[in-house]
Parts: sequence; structure tokens; C-alpha cells
Amino acid sequence: MTAPVVAKAGLEDIVATTSAICYLDGQRGVLAYAGYDIHDLAEHATFEEVCFLLWHRRLPRRADLGDLQTAFSSARVLPEGIVRLARQLPAGDAMDTLRTLASALAHYDPDANLHTSDANYRKAVRLTAQMASLVALIGRVSAGQGTIAPDPVPGFAASFLYMLTGERPGPVAVRALDIALILHADHELNASTFAARVTAATLSDMHSAIVSAIGTLKGPLHGGANADVMRMLLEIGEHAGPDRAEEHVRARLARKEKIPGFGHRVYRTEDPRATHLRRMSRELGEQTGRPHWYELSSRIESVVTAEKGLYPNVDFYSASTYYAMGIPMALFTPLFAVSRMAGWTAHVLEQYANNRLIRPRADYVGPAYPRPWVALPDRHGV
Ligand SMILES: CC(C)(COP(=O)(O)OP(=O)(O)OC[C@H]1O[C@@H](n2cnc3c(N)ncnc32)[C@H](O)[C@@H]1OP(=O)(O)O)[C@@H](O)C(=O)NCCC(=O)NCCS
Repeated sequence: MTAPVVAKAGLEDIVATTSAICYLDGQRGVLAYAGYDIHDLAEHATFEEVCFLLWHRRLPRRADLGDLQTAFSSARVLPEGIVRLARQLPAGDAMDTLRTLASALAHYDPDANLHTSDANYRKAVRLTAQMASLVALIGRVSAGQGTIAPDPVPGFAASFLYMLTGERPGPVAVRALDIALILHADHELNASTFAARVTAATLSDMHSAIVSAIGTLKGPLHGGANADVMRMLLEIGEHAGPDRAEEHVRARLARKEKIPGFGHRVYRTEDPRATHLRRMSRELGEQTGRPHWYELSSRIESVVTAEKGLYPNVDFYSASTYYAMGIPMALFTPLFAVSRMAGWTAHVLEQYANNRLIRPRADYVGPAYPRPWVALPDRHGV
């Protein structure tokens, strides 16, 4: 028998599966979904087109898109029991609420434990639409507001903003959110997608896989970083200038603290998603007459890049972008989950289609084997 290969901590650079969904080149800063460069998708696509692309590895034709929009529309209305549950849960972290409600959705899903590929595809579509409704619901409930029924007007991003605010959003906000959703939709074997695939590989159901993913996304080393970035900006202050931001970051670096929104396991150059989010943060700041958060962010970037050679990741400028759009900070990571639902479900479908249980090995470093048994009365200082 051959000895197991000892992996690097954190499975760094380990190729754990084959996948036809997302191409990532960390040296050149390339990200592509099924071959389409993220820059082209951010410029031309809608989130609905990207969902279809991730699920089918081809762009939708007009009829495909119409069908998907119809399916999204009908899935947007949440079961009454879910709305009630959202109101009953004690106030808390929005990601905890999202995890619980996403799990509860399985109890209302007619396909929950049906494992045909058609049923799994229906769940992928349904869960993606429902996720946006859940996040809007959580936003409304936590603000003590009444719920808003989904708008029949098509458009994933527009519908989310409408359910969240109760107002018809303008085209600038809709396009900004659409681009943000596209940029966050998939990212190869990131931690939450890997978690989803591990769960799916036991042939557990899609809702269980998604719940694993939501719990994983919550962590501050992953999706939780976008809210941490905003906390840092708010701590620097609404009325502080860029010099204060520089001081703040230099002090954190001197204390050997990590700066949220910087660094990446795969990219060794600029994260291509950050390029768009930086521009969006600047433009939205100018358009809303509040360029302040972008200016602070920009100074932080200069300092961290000069001092540590680190680039901003997807979370850094998404914080000021979402804030400029009026999205509450508590919903930043849940919003990430809305868009990553497309990628999670695409990977779960891919896992089911060519499944093998994911079960790696550990390099044992505990007490030497064999260890003599010690009876209870003799365990002094053992
Ligand atoms: C993303 C992240 C988890 C990647 O981690 P990783 O590949 O395990 O890399 P490490 O944490 O080992 O970092 C490597 C080095 O860069 C430093 N570093 C990494 N990210 C840093 C950050 N955000 N601020 C300051 N230093 C950082 C580490 O301190 C370490 O330095 P050292 O070698 O002197 O100890 C890490 O960069 C991080 O924690 N970033 C902040 C959280 C964040 O933005 N997460 C969202 C990711 S999309």
C-alpha cells in the first residue's frame, strides 16, 4: 500500500477535482466562467445569463432566458411558513438567519429529497431566486418593516432591490448590483463551494449542500470579510480624511493584524473582480455625492499594497459599493450568498453528475501508537 501524500496546510495549490465551470489563473489575474472572461461578462451580461451559463456552460438563447426569468419570478414568492419563521427567530447575525431559513426551505420544497437531474436543476433555479427573497426578507424584518411582495417586473437585481426597499430602483443601482452579482457568482473551489461539493458528494440533498456552503461563507476569512471592511471604514470615521485612514491601517499593520479585503489564496496579482468594484465604488460615490468611502478605501489600498505587496480582493471595494447603494452592512455577506448560490448549485449539479465520495486523509501527528491503556484509578498526571 502506498503512503498517503501529505498536503500543504489549507490544501494550498492542491487540485481536488476536475470542473468545467470556472477557470482561474492566479498569476495572470484571469477569471472566466465556462471560458467567458469575467471582464466581458461584467460589461455585457446580466446575472440571469450568468446563472444559465454556470448551470449549462453555454449562453442562453432568447427562449432559454425567457424560461429562466419565468422560473425565477414564480420562485420568488416565499412560503408563508418561511416568512413566519423569519419573524419568530430572535434578532441576530443575518448569516445565521439566512442559514436557518435556507435550511427550512427544504421543508416546503416538493423536490427536496428527489435526486433526479431534473429535480436537482429545478432546485438550483428555485434556491437561487429564493435566496434573494430571503435576504430581502431578513433586511425588512430586522429593520422592523413589513414584507414587500416580489415585483412582477423582470430582472433579478431590480427585483431584489425592490423587495428590500419597497421602491423601484433606478437603472444605475440595478446595473451596479447586476455587475456585483455577476462578479461574485462563482470562483472555482473556494471554501464554501468546496464545502457544498463535499456535502453533495455523500449524495446528500441540495439544500444540505447549500446550508454547508452558507455556514462556510460566513467566516471572516471568506465572505464575512466584506462586512469587516465596512466596519473598518466606519471605525475610521464618516468625517475622517484619507490621512486618518492611513494612520489607522499603519497602526493595524504594526500590531500584525490582517487588513480585511486584502490578500488571496490564489491571486498573486490584482483580483480581476476588484478592478470593477473599485470603479463602481468610485462612480457610485460620485453619483450619490458621497465619495468619502471610496477615498478612504483608495488610501488604504495604497498603503497596504506598498507595505505588504497585497492587492484588494473581491470584498474590499464591494463594501463601499454596497454602502453607497444603501444596502445595510448586515446584508453584505448574505448578498454575497445570493450571487454565489448560482455557483454553489452549478458545482453541486456537476458533483452529482460525476460523483465520487470526497474523503481525504490526515497526516497523524498525535501521541505515538500503540499507547498502553491506563485504568481509571491509575490516571495520575496522565
Ligand atoms: C484571504 C486570506 C485568508 C488568504 O490566506 P492565506 O492564503 O492562508 O495566506 P496567509 O494568511 O498565510 O497570508 C500570507 C502572508 O500574507 C499576510 N497577509 C495575508 N493577508 C493579509 C491581510 N489581509 N492583511 C495583512 N497581511 C496579510 C499574512 O500575515 C502572511 O504574512 P507572513 O507570511 O508574514 O505571516 C488572507 O489573505 C486573509 O486573511 N485576508 C483577509 C480576509 C479577507 O479579505 N478574506 C476574503 C478573501 S476573498
